[in-house]
Amino acid sequence: MGNYVLEELSAKTIVAANSLTLKPGQEQFVAPTSYALAESYFNPATEWPRVVLEGDTVVGFIRGHFDPSSDQPEFRSCIWRITVAATAQGKGVGRFAIEALAQEAKSRGFTTLTVLWEGGDDGPGKFFNKLGFVDIGTSRFGETIGELSL
Ligand SMILES: CC(C)(COP(=O)(O)OP(=O)(O)OC[C@H]1O[C@@H](n2cnc3c(N)ncnc32)[C@H](O)[C@@H]1OP(=O)(O)O)[C@@H](O)C(=O)NCCC(=O)NCCS
Repeated sequence: MGNYVLEELSAKTIVAANSLTLKPGQEQFVAPTSYALAESYFNPATEWPRVVLEGDTVVGFIRGHFDPSSDQPEFRSCIWRITVAATAQGKGVGRFAIEALAQEAKSRGFTTLTVLWEGGDDGPGKFFNKLGFVDIGTSRFGETIGELSL
């Protein structure tokens, strides 16, 4: 595992975070439909956007979302987005980012962290399962709902 540092998303890193190059075929998994739709109701105060740096290079991006009053339980303490640059995948960046977000969720008093993902061979399901997320259901758009106990 590399030497990774977590930093709040800023003017300095936002362009790099938005233009992380994924592996071919992965783009379709980045924004499950439920998130894309809910984004229009997004309150910036509930966001937790962080980049993962390796030296000066942005190698990953994670956005946590916390909204204890959401009427959709899967949106109360969740991973809104996670992307790791193709060249940095498989080296623990994703695990590092999710462990940091899990820590943040815990410190806010949540006992679970949820994530939605689209099924498919190139999708992130096995990654989330490896990190301890358990499939707890299916969203109305057919995405898998995974939950990690904190
Ligand atoms: C999913 C993603 C974030 C994983 O990031 P990553 O940095 O490559 O993952 P890590 O290296 O931290 O992997 C952590 C563990 O998961 C395992 N893992 C990762 N991807 C896997 C896959 N596709 N299949 C099986 N296991 C996988 C790793 O082997 C590792 O296991 P280990 O700790 O026992 O060695 C990255 O592939 C990505 O950006 N995908 C495209 C965007 C996406 O699908 N995001 C999710 C939207 S909901």
